[in-house]
Amino acid sequence: MTRKKITVIGSINMDLVTETRKIPRAGETVLGDSFHTVPGGKGANQAVAAARLGADVTLIGCVGQDAFGEELVKHLSNQGIHMDYVRMVAHQPTGIASIIISDGDNRIIVVPGANNQVSPELVEEHENIIAKSDIVLLQLEIPLKSVEKAIEIAKKHNVKVILNPAPIQALSKELVQKIDYLTPNEHEQQELLISASEWSEQEKKDLMAKCIVTKGSKGVMIFQNGEKEISGYKVEVVDTTGAGDTFNGALAYSLSLGIELEEACRFANAAGALSVTKLGAQGGMPTKQEVEEFLEIQKERKG
Ligand code: RIB
Repeated sequence: MTRKKITVIGSINMDLVTETRKIPRAGETVLGDSFHTVPGGKGANQAVAAARLGADVTLIGCVGQDAFGEELVKHLSNQGIHMDYVRMVAHQPTGIASIIISDGDNRIIVVPGANNQVSPELVEEHENIIAKSDIVLLQLEIPLKSVEKAIEIAKKHNVKVILNPAPIQALSKELVQKIDYLTPNEHEQQELLISASEWSEQEKKDLMAKCIVTKGSKGVMIFQNGEKEISGYKVEVVDTTGAGDTFNGALAYSLSLGIELEEACRFANAAGALSVTKLGAQGGMPTKQEVEEFLEIQKERKG
C-alpha cells in the first residue's frame, strides 16, 4: 500500500525538562530531581507521531544555526521525516520549551525563537508540497499569518486540514470555515467558544461540528453527527507532555487512510494513552503495531 503523505507545518523545539517534587514560589530556590534535554515542539512532535505509525511525513519549519538546531534536524531525519524544507535561520536561536514536571502534571514556557521565522512567504514557497499532501497538519506555535497561508493553499488544492489550536488564540470565522478538523483540549475549546461569542448560532454550530475535543484520560468528544464520547484509557502516567501531539499525529495518519472519524479518534486516543507512559514528548510515541496490540488488550479487558 502506498504511504499517505502528511505535511506538518509547525514548530521545532528542544525541550528542557526538569522533574521536581516541589515547584518554587517567587523568590524561592528548590532542589529538583532530574533534568533531560529531549526533542519537542508541537509541529515536530506531531510529525514524529505520524511517521512512527507509518505515514510519509514532510515537515516545514525553522531552527536556528546552533547546536540544538543541528541535533533536532538530525534526530527528525532519523525518524524518517523529510527535512529538506526545514530551514536553518541565522540570528534566531532554535525554539526551546522549559518544562517542569511535578506530580504527573507539566508546566511549559515556550520561547519560539526560529519558529517565528516560519513566514507566510516561506509557506508559499512550498505550495507544491502542500498540494501533493493527503493531509496538512498545523498548530499555533508559528505565526498565525503563516497558518492562515497554509490553510489557504491547502484549500486551493482540496487538501484536508487539521488544526490543533494550541497554544490557543482567537481564530477568525473565515479561517475556521476553511478547516476540516479542529482538535482543541477542553480548555482550548472553551476559549474558542468565547472568541466565537459574537458569531451567529449557525456559525457556532459549524465550529462545534469541526471540533474533536481531547480530554486526556477521560477520552475524546466529537460533535459531527450529534455529540459522541469516545472513552479514554487508564495507563501508568510518567509524562503527559506530547500526549495531545501524539493524538493529532495519529488522527492525521488514520484520517489520511480514509478511516471514518469515530474509528480514527479511537485509534488516536489509544496512541495518546501509550505516549504518556514514557518520559519526553516523543519518548512514548507508539508504532502502529503497538497501538493495535494495546487496543486488542483493552477489548479483552472489557470482555
Ligand atoms: O505539546 C508539547 C510540546 O509543547 C512540547 O514538546 C514543547 O516543545 C511545546 O511546544
